[in-house]
Amino acid sequence: MIDSFEVRRLSGALGAEVSGVNLAELDESSSREVKKLLAEHLILFFPDQALSNEQQLSLGEHFGRSEAHPHLENPSLEETRIFELAASQGGIADEWHSDLSFLPEPALFSIFQMMKCPEVGGDTLWSNLQLAFEELSPPMRDLCQGLTALHNAEPHRRPEAMYVHPVVRMDPETGRKSLFVNEHFTRRIVEMSSEESRLLLDYLRGWIASPRFCLRYGWSEGTVALWDNRFTQHFVVNDFEGERVIQRVTVMGDQPMGVGPPKWPPYRRRGRASDTSRHDDLLKKYLRSQSERGEA
Ligand SMILES: [Fe+2]
Repeated sequence: MIDSFEVRRLSGALGAEVSGVNLAELDESSSREVKKLLAEHLILFFPDQALSNEQQLSLGEHFGRSEAHPHLENPSLEETRIFELAASQGGIADEWHSDLSFLPEPALFSIFQMMKCPEVGGDTLWSNLQLAFEELSPPMRDLCQGLTALHNAEPHRRPEAMYVHPVVRMDPETGRKSLFVNEHFTRRIVEMSSEESRLLLDYLRGWIASPRFCLRYGWSEGTVALWDNRFTQHFVVNDFEGERVIQRVTVMGDQPMGVGPPKWPPYRRRGRASDTSRHDDLLKKYLRSQSERGEA
């Protein structure tokens, strides 16, 4: 089966379309080949697959342990290990994000099937976060490597689900570094004031979305995509009418590893409390919960 793989790169930054493989019948040697291709391209698209729920779940088993979404319920599908998002129910992910980055161990891979898509529009963009890190200037890379960021599930109305991750994440196998902050779930740089944090996060959000780091993909029904959620971010273009339904199996991952410990302590506002102190409330809450956990 491996000899029949056809791989076509889709952009200079990342992504390839793979044909000549039936994902419903993936054997061990083919799944090893898929993993190798995934490490090289970070996202793979397999058109014309149309997997059943069982087939999508067993495909996930080749890559690791899959889990239900921690907060959101499916609009119609009963199988909870597959996460379903329907545009008609507000399921349009039009902010840049890595899936579940607010968890201590965010998603490793996402296996995504397009169930129903509009004739025009509803493309998804992905960005290569390794390239985005490597093309920063040396002083900016240095600064980012010393920082951590607070992520939470505020978009799911669960702000208390939060975790701090390094701003620069290292691939434990290759040592390659990538940016790990995103528009949707990252709230605050821990070591900076809220004003500085906002400036830096806004800058990195725009940087990550630079077209030269990105791929834009137009869907057909039955296409399956498999991406590395550690080193990419994605964004859905909300330019369509009608329904768009996706189903995702989420392969759970490891705790993001930084280059080293943070270079600075968490930011603490000096002086008396004032109106602007509220911008530090979330960070204070997180730090308090951490120290209580340490004392328990
Ligand atoms: Fe997503």
